[in-house]
Amino acid sequence: MQLTMTLPSSTGMCVLLLVSSLLLWEHAVSKPTGIVSTKDLYDRVVEQSHTTYVLAADIYHEFDVNFFKRSWFTDRMPRICHTASIHTPESRQEVNETKTEDLLKAIVNITNAWEEPLKHLVSAIPSLSKPSDDMLKTTNAVKAKNLVLLEGLKTILNRTQTVYEETDSPVWSGLSDLKSADEDTQFFAFYSLARCLKRDTHKIDTFLKVLRCRVVFNSECLF
Ligand SMILES: *[C@@H]1O[C@H](CO)[C@@H](O)[C@H](O)[C@H]1NC(C)=O
Ligand SMILES: *[C@@H]1O[C@H](CO)[C@@H](O)[C@H](O)[C@H]1NC(C)=O
Ligand SMILES: *[C@@H]1O[C@H](CO)[C@@H](O)[C@H](O)[C@H]1NC(C)=O
Repeated sequence: MQLTMTLPSSTGMCVLLLVSSLLLWEHAVSKPTGIVSTKDLYDRVVEQSHTTYVLAADIYHEFDVNFFKRSWFTDRMPRICHTASIHTPESRQEVNETKTEDLLKAIVNITNAWEEPLKHLVSAIPSLSKPSDDMLKTTNAVKAKNLVLLEGLKTILNRTQTVYEETDSPVWSGLSDLKSADEDTQFFAFYSLARCLKRDTHKIDTFLKVLRCRVVFNSECLF
C-alpha cells in the first residue's frame, strides 16, 4: 500500500489525504491479523519525511526568490529555531551512538513542535504582499504531512515499547512578528520560519533514513 504523493489541490483534499493516511496507520496497529511490518512502517514514514522535506525546501526557495531582502544581512539577527533546544546528534558517530528510541523521541518532539507554527505559516500566506497559490498549497501539504508523519512515528515508537511522555514540545514565539503590520518584520519572521522548517525536515528525513537502515537492514545499506 502506497501513500498518495500527489499534491493536494485544496484544503479539503488535504483533509481527505490526512484522514486516509491516518487510517493506514490505525490499520497498522489495530488489526492483529494484518499487522504491517516494521519495514513497511519505516518505508512509509521515510516516504512522508522525504516528501515533506522536498516541499519545505520549495517553500523556502520560493520565499527566498520573491521576498528575500539583502538588508536583512546587516539589519537583523537571525532567529534561533524554536526547536534548537531539542537535542539531536551532530555527527555520524554521535548518530550511531544514539539509541533508536532516543532518536525517535527527538524526531517526534521536533515534529510535534511544528504543528502550531505550520498552522500560522499557512494563515500568514494570504497576507503576504504577493500571495502565492502554489506556496499556500505546498504549505498546506506540509502541515498535513507533518501530522501524518507524527502518527506514523508514534506507531513505530509504540512498537519499541518506549513510553513516550507527552511533555510539551518547545513553543514557538514568532507569532506577533509573523502577524506584524510592518512588512519587513513580517517577511523576516516568515523567512526565519521557512528556513528552520527546511532545516528540521531535512534533519528528520536524514535521521529516519539512518534508522530505517539500522532497524530494517541491520545497518547494511547505502544511502
Ligand atoms: C522535547 O524537547 C524539549 C526541549 O529540549 C524538552 O524539554 C522536552 O522534555 C522534550 N519532550 C520529550 C517528550 O522528549
Ligand atoms: C557504529 O556502531 C557499531 C556498533 O554499534 C560499530 O560496529 C560501527 O563501527 C559504528 N560505526 C561508526 C561509523 O561509528
Ligand atoms: C501500542 O501498542 C499496544 C500493543 O503493544 C497497543 O495495544 C496500543 O493500542 C498501541 N498504542 C498506540 C497509540 O498505537
